[in-house]
Amino acid sequence: MKGVLLAGGNGTRLLPLTKYMNKHLLPVGKHPMIAYGIHKLHQAGIDDILLITGSKSVGLYAEYLENGRSFGVNLTYKVQEQAGGIAEALELAKGFIPHGEKFVVLLGDNLFQDDLKPFIQHYVQQPSGTAMVLLSPTDSPHRYGVPVFAEDGGGKLLFIEEKPVNPRSRHAVTGIYMYDHSVFDIISRISPSERGELEITDVNNLYAANGTLIYDILQQWWCDAGTFESLQEAAVHMKDELP
Ligand code: G1P
Repeated sequence: MKGVLLAGGNGTRLLPLTKYMNKHLLPVGKHPMIAYGIHKLHQAGIDDILLITGSKSVGLYAEYLENGRSFGVNLTYKVQEQAGGIAEALELAKGFIPHGEKFVVLLGDNLFQDDLKPFIQHYVQQPSGTAMVLLSPTDSPHRYGVPVFAEDGGGKLLFIEEKPVNPRSRHAVTGIYMYDHSVFDIISRISPSERGELEITDVNNLYAANGTLIYDILQQWWCDAGTFESLQEAAVHMKDELP
């Protein structure tokens, strides 16, 4: 199985740190943030990884990660010219993913302790054209995509609200997604949001509208290390994750 690791964006919530350094290369404990994403994919048996980042930083990534061999993976790089959203970055993976293959997408600022293997095993059993998101309980759902569940107690995920003022659940949709080639058709059907970006939540909501979006829930610690507070929290939790 292949993996797509997204490391673009402007990292505005981490200014001025991100004025000189791409967010996903900032230190988290002993390693640059991106090392943990590569480790998590590798740990799950994914060793063919496409890393997508901006033109300003791609040289630094290549210098640090090279072809990925020292991390046990094979790395390919692609450049996202402008920060146009997660779904726009993902579109760049179209030629990397063979038809009929399922793959994992990971946002490089999502740090977590769960092993992805059981979730991947669940996903590969699904029919083609299915997408899967991983959720995590959170105290601040308004900062994330938030699932809305059916009220009949069956737990069906009806749709996702992006950063809602009044979240309808205490779960965040994490930046860990599983798709097959159908995602590229779906991306071609969405339009830029109010902030001018192709939103991954719009992609997932088209799957939800088709009844083909499933989810699992992470069991251990997770964070989006995109703010100063969460970056510090991540350093504590990730202390012993990598030697
Ligand atoms: C993105 C997604 C959001 C998700 C989050 C996870 O938000 O749009 O649905 O909950 O990643 O990290 P962003 O961090 O780009 O604002």
